Amino acid sequence: MTAEAPLGVFDSGVGGLSVLRELRREMPHEHVLYLADTKHVPIGARSDEEIRDLTARAVAALHARGAKGVVVACNTASAFSLTQLRERYGLAFPIIGLVPAVKPAVAATRSGVVGVLATPGTLRGTLLRDVIRQFAEPAGVRVLTAVSAELVPLVEAGQADSDRARAVLRETLTPLAAAGADRLVLGCTHYPFLAGSIRAEFGETFTLLDSGAAVARHTRNVLQQAGLLRKPGEPGTVRYLVTGEPETSRPVIATLMGTDRQNVTVQQVTT
Ligand code: DGL
Repeated sequence: MTAEAPLGVFDSGVGGLSVLRELRREMPHEHVLYLADTKHVPIGARSDEEIRDLTARAVAALHARGAKGVVVACNTASAFSLTQLRERYGLAFPIIGLVPAVKPAVAATRSGVVGVLATPGTLRGTLLRDVIRQFAEPAGVRVLTAVSAELVPLVEAGQADSDRARAVLRETLTPLAAAGADRLVLGCTHYPFLAGSIRAEFGETFTLLDSGAAVARHTRNVLQQAGLLRKPGEPGTVRYLVTGEPETSRPVIATLMGTDRQNVTVQQVTT
């Protein structure tokens, strides 16, 4: 594997674009191969085994296409697959995962109550439980979780700013606001795209936290240490791979990445 090879980025859908934006900011010279498993999204309500299997297939597809490593830009996939993927690919093919941003939320809360909005899979997985145990419990911070199966499909449909998204957020997050949460961890990579709707409903009630910027910095360090960071020169390119219908994803990707449709190359693949 060489530094010229693209970095693989995987999410069940377009949520990982919130991580991709941070990766582009941190490492504008990297080429990226972004794979969205749009045929199977949402994966948050699937069984542990299905989540593991879909993630393994996606990472294998990126590996087969010459990626030099993979950022699993999906909290749900990370919650079930990181150990197994690292065992399978070894150190020469770095696998970088996501953990909900509980640690910075615990450090910053004034009320002592932190909310976490996540998919059912992430709430069930051990990663979230581990960070709560490691950071929130010793600090005496209460962590309250909220879940909705509707939010990921709304972001996928390009409706992050819709009345429906606002209504779902109002219903899902009101208990956290009522319990005094002043920090809200966005525990799913689709949710940073809902920031406008959350603010529209809740104003400054919560400070929002996600792990995008931290994972981008971490990825840079990992690539550097492995000798896989691409040298500065011309800017890197991004190619999008989807398992569903490319023309459905193209306008949504363009909007979320803040670019024109003609700048977005989307290819259909099977994983
Ligand atoms: N972006 C994924 C995450 O971070 C969404 C999972 C899903 O497809 O439900 O968890």
